[in-house]
Amino acid sequence: MAVVGADSETGQRVRDEAKEYVLHSWSVQDAVSPLPVAGAEGRYFWDYDGKRYLDFASQLVNVSIGHQHPKVVAAIKEQADKLCTIGPPMATEPRSTLGRLLREVTPGDLSMSFFTNGGAEANENAIKLARWYTGRQKVIARYRSYHGATGGAITLTGDPRRWPAEPGIPGVVRMLDPYTYRCPAGHPDPCPVCSGAPHLEEILQYEGAHTVAAVILETVVGTNGIIVPPDGYLQSIREVCDRHGILLICDEVMAGFGRTGKWFACENWDVVPDILTVAKGINSGYVPLGAMIVSQPIAEWVRDKFFAGGLTYSGHPLAAAAAVASIEAFREEGIVEHAAEMGPLFEERLRGLAERHPSIGEVRGLGCFWGLELVRNRETREMLVPFNATGDAATPVNRIAKAALDRGLYLMMHWNVAIVAPPLTITPEELDEGVAVLDEVLAIADEYVDE
Ligand SMILES: Cc1ncc(COP(=O)(O)O)c(C=O)c1O
Repeated sequence: MAVVGADSETGQRVRDEAKEYVLHSWSVQDAVSPLPVAGAEGRYFWDYDGKRYLDFASQLVNVSIGHQHPKVVAAIKEQADKLCTIGPPMATEPRSTLGRLLREVTPGDLSMSFFTNGGAEANENAIKLARWYTGRQKVIARYRSYHGATGGAITLTGDPRRWPAEPGIPGVVRMLDPYTYRCPAGHPDPCPVCSGAPHLEEILQYEGAHTVAAVILETVVGTNGIIVPPDGYLQSIREVCDRHGILLICDEVMAGFGRTGKWFACENWDVVPDILTVAKGINSGYVPLGAMIVSQPIAEWVRDKFFAGGLTYSGHPLAAAAAVASIEAFREEGIVEHAAEMGPLFEERLRGLAERHPSIGEVRGLGCFWGLELVRNRETREMLVPFNATGDAATPVNRIAKAALDRGLYLMMHWNVAIVAPPLTITPEELDEGVAVLDEVLAIADEYVDE
């Protein structure tokens, strides 16, 4: 693989200007030192010194197809030559085709899409539509969640990224998560929270089910710790929603498009939401794109109505062309099937790490979507770093991420969870390469173990 663009001086300038002129997401500005990236291919990217990094995070768990997939790059170029941009009132081939393809690849009767620039806007539109459709106002969302950074989406978000945006939009009610490792209900058998229905029913009793428009959840929780719901959970939430005329919105911005080894994560439990929100893996972020995909009854209902939503770039031709090419490549190359086949290999390799590293409290995941929850003590489950740790408190995880990067592995750490989510196209050899680095750097976490 050619490492092009090696030029340290340019790299330095790119980094300096990024620090001087660019406001960086979710960071203390003075503390960031962004890695200047010169190029990428497949599962790797490289800096201006020609140093290569294995991308174990698919950037922000979005580059699912891998970097610079030739078919997707060609489709963007071809579309740019034909028609770079055109307004949403026009019909364009890539957007029309993409609408049809989404109908084909999504489960059940999900059938009509509204296109956005990313995940947050997909969720904004989902709750707006749910409120309009049901004539109700409240939306139930979970704590261990991230739904985006715009006004409504950040209010839906349960994690502390919400705090600076409070009070946010009215009508959001919070629900606990089926987080079996740290169950807030103490995880009795059967567990009212981790089984879904009892906890939701109690909330509905107090909120008034007739006032609730929707339940929104990440089918498999992403940044907040790769939390896979126990079997039966999603089905029971679906059943409660159906019984009360509440819409189920599955946010699969991260978990969709093959990440869990199925086209969509909800297919792991044969559940079809009323609204599915997607972004990231739809075209691996080659051009920004998201979508809200609605079920047939909602599609039929909306047809003779004025849809009060819009975006200048809804279904942007370059983004849609990239998504069409990406979905075709997924089909032609069997990328979802490959992700499913890799799942057991991930599990075996990561459980192997857990045998050697006492700092690994739990290994969990599906397909190419895994988390290693790091602890100081397996008995007490004390977290390696405290909840929402920043600054000095986050030193252990910052050391791990830096040591990995020094060894050419790009790793996403979220509090005490190491997220393992490389592109779905990863090979077994590349997985082993990354796991070998993890094996080395987890020695740092083991230093903090007090058993
Ligand atoms: C589950 C989930 N929903 C929504 C979003 C927001 O997507 P975007 O950043 O494209 O607005 C994210 C982003 O990480 C996400 O992980």
